[in-house]
Amino acid sequence: MLVKDSVNKQTLQKLKEKLDKGLMPQWAVTDKDIYELERRQIFGKTWQFLGHESELKEPGSYVTRWIASDPVLLVKTNSGEIKAFLNSCTHRGAHLCTADFGKKKTFTCPYHGWSFNLEGELVGVVSGKKVYGEKMIKDEWGLRPIPKVGMYQGLIFASLDHQAMPLEDYLGDMKWYLDILLGRSDGGMEVRGVPQRWTAQANWKMTQENFASDPYHVQTNHRSTVELGISPSDPNFASYGHQIVLGNGHGLSIMTSATGKSPYKYQTLPESMWPMFQRNLSPEQNEIFSNATVFVGGMFPNLAFDSPVHGMEGEMINYLNLRIWRPLGPDKVEVWCWFLIDKAAPEEYKEKAYKSYVGSFGPSGTLEQDDTEVWARIIQVSDALMMEDKELSYNNVNNYLLGEDVFEPVENFPGPGVAYPSTYTDNLARSIQKRWFELISKGLLDEEEDSQ
Ligand code: FES
Ligand SMILES: [Fe+2]
Repeated sequence: MLVKDSVNKQTLQKLKEKLDKGLMPQWAVTDKDIYELERRQIFGKTWQFLGHESELKEPGSYVTRWIASDPVLLVKTNSGEIKAFLNSCTHRGAHLCTADFGKKKTFTCPYHGWSFNLEGELVGVVSGKKVYGEKMIKDEWGLRPIPKVGMYQGLIFASLDHQAMPLEDYLGDMKWYLDILLGRSDGGMEVRGVPQRWTAQANWKMTQENFASDPYHVQTNHRSTVELGISPSDPNFASYGHQIVLGNGHGLSIMTSATGKSPYKYQTLPESMWPMFQRNLSPEQNEIFSNATVFVGGMFPNLAFDSPVHGMEGEMINYLNLRIWRPLGPDKVEVWCWFLIDKAAPEEYKEKAYKSYVGSFGPSGTLEQDDTEVWARIIQVSDALMMEDKELSYNNVNNYLLGEDVFEPVENFPGPGVAYPSTYTDNLARSIQKRWFELISKGLLDEEEDSQ
């Protein structure tokens, strides 16, 4: 039996047939039943990004985050360990800590005043034994830990699934590219400010796809940034370079220039830092990094990154932007957007980098606004009656055939993964969709087949 009548085996099989051909029915983007499958089988199972270690500076530092609909309290304990708990009081389930960040020794519930220490242990009960007698065993009422917590290059992840594979296996070959972005400098990266966040009318799959796998939109949708002189001056700049498919729904595009060499060596980071990059990275990683204009990509399901060069007062400046698309439903996302820069960068560069970020991404960013507008319009179109065609009788599908039969993988790319010789290809988008479908249909198609 399938859990949902409207997403039955036949529908899933039709969906799979279309996906295998590089076609995505639009009804599946915002379908409510598909969304419920995503919530449980994707967000309930995969590793989810919660924050960066530099956000938790000292014992007692905490931030509050979400894994889709699950509130998370992330704390640094007295021993320096990072722990994650369901941010819900074990008395009656009130949202325990409602601040975004801070530093505390204990967390006291606003409802009846129970308090918990940094290890999640219940340490205070209002009126204690007077009202609970001897029956209250505090040890039994600690906060519920998030089943898995892991860290890679300062990125903190967690999973709601006890059976989740080790984080490093989950990230796979993406680690090699994360090392370039996060491990190139002594001391790593630091988050400046707090993550900006806002809601957008959008579907999380479309926003992830936009960042992870769709440089093709840049030429048109962000054309004004070329004309303003805040993006590289060649209007086709986003097409040069490689798209790299890494499996497990991860991948990225690394843009260069028409000549294959970026005019912005090491993405304009100061020359004084270059020997450090050469020391911390392999020759292959240096070859890629020194010639890159932009790194943009994603880790399945909803963590995306962008490391561009962006014009700020006449100079091109680099920064790293991490972002998650927290789904609030099939047609709404809460965007969480972090600015990061090398801890070892000169202070003057860091300040320029932050201004460059604020002008390009985040709620005030030019490119952000270009994209947000289009995402909302996809949602509006998804409400059309003709989009409800689950039988696909009108062949109502979206096109993921970019680069098909045009680009073959290159053989001598210096990094891991399957690299295509242009960023204008849908190979990565299709690999993301494949992973998405594997997870949402897990157990559903097979179970049905077993019972036949
Ligand atoms: S719900 Fe937290 S103390 Fe009652
Ligand atoms: Fe964009």
